[in-house]
Amino acid sequence: MRILGIETTCDETAAAVVGVGFDGRGEILSSEVLSQIAEHAAYGGVVPEIAARAHVEVLDRLIARALKNANCAIKDIDGIAVAAGPGLIGGVLVGLTTAKAIALVTRKPLMAVNHLEAHALTARLTDGIGFPYLLLLASGGHTQLVAVKGVGDYVRIGTTIDDAIGEAFDKAAKMLGLPYPGGPHVEREAARGNPERFALPRPMQGRAEPNFSLSGLKTAVRIEAEKIAPLTQTDISDLCASFQAAIVDVVVDRTRVGLRRFREIAGAPKALVVAGGVAANQTMRQALQRLAVETGLKLVAPPLALCGDNAAMIAWAGLERMRLGLIDDINAPARARWPL
Ligand code: KG4
Ligand code: ZN
Repeated sequence: MRILGIETTCDETAAAVVGVGFDGRGEILSSEVLSQIAEHAAYGGVVPEIAARAHVEVLDRLIARALKNANCAIKDIDGIAVAAGPGLIGGVLVGLTTAKAIALVTRKPLMAVNHLEAHALTARLTDGIGFPYLLLLASGGHTQLVAVKGVGDYVRIGTTIDDAIGEAFDKAAKMLGLPYPGGPHVEREAARGNPERFALPRPMQGRAEPNFSLSGLKTAVRIEAEKIAPLTQTDISDLCASFQAAIVDVVVDRTRVGLRRFREIAGAPKALVVAGGVAANQTMRQALQRLAVETGLKLVAPPLALCGDNAAMIAWAGLERMRLGLIDDINAPARARWPL
């Protein structure tokens, strides 16, 4: 079985072909990702209209390249999977309309996949883990702790009441004059900074509900930066290190509480899975690894190329759904908001 996947919900245009090997495990046959970061960098964030236009310009070529690199023609594909949301509606429409056109012309099944579900199922593609598991999804747009009990069977345990984790990294970076997207820059600066120089708050730490609130932490960074402005290179590194240490502490604490809640509702988890762009952060990974060891779990974090947005995860989610007969109608809607 081979599935073509398409992803256009945010600022990455992506197409991929994923199949299943003889052992039933997923196999990425090709995965093309074109980031629009350069187009949005000047604005310090993603501009929806620019994103949608950029998807239109490159998507056809990207699909052709994904097929070519997977050594197959469209006739060899068994189904078309597309992220139908949540995301920026203009971009979602570009991908969804393209996928529908291909599905109609080739008479192949269409799977309108939830982008968050695709992040949630990626660990099964990369590590073949079984259900149930606890997912920490940490990206620029989403922060969720989810009990993944089966394909299509998700219970949200916690979420953020304001900024997403990646968004907090991006906003802190912007305040410190670092380029967008800020996460990787903050991590680089933090590596040479002193995480103990600034006593930043750990919002929500210790609370019984495994939710997040990060906007106060971001404000605390701004206040500290204003106190010592103009900032030297060392100040920036120390602020980044202190910020990263605070956010990692919060994430570990919230995830620990999430694991407790998970056991109440879904029994023993098979793994702790971290996904989304922030999962690229090595300090975060190491801290979650320690939490996993402490709680007797295996930490599964997808390889860096699959942490951020990509189409292999969409194809895989489509494949998982198609195997269960979960095929969508050609009228499947594009959804800006679509909770798991
Ligand atoms: O999953 P993703 O590629 O896109 C969505 O938001 O859906 O995640 C991008 C986010 C951005 O906020 C980016 O700053 C953050 O992930 N990020 C990081 C790192 N790499 C990417 N945050 C912290 N440390 C990193 N190394
Ligand atoms: Zn994403």
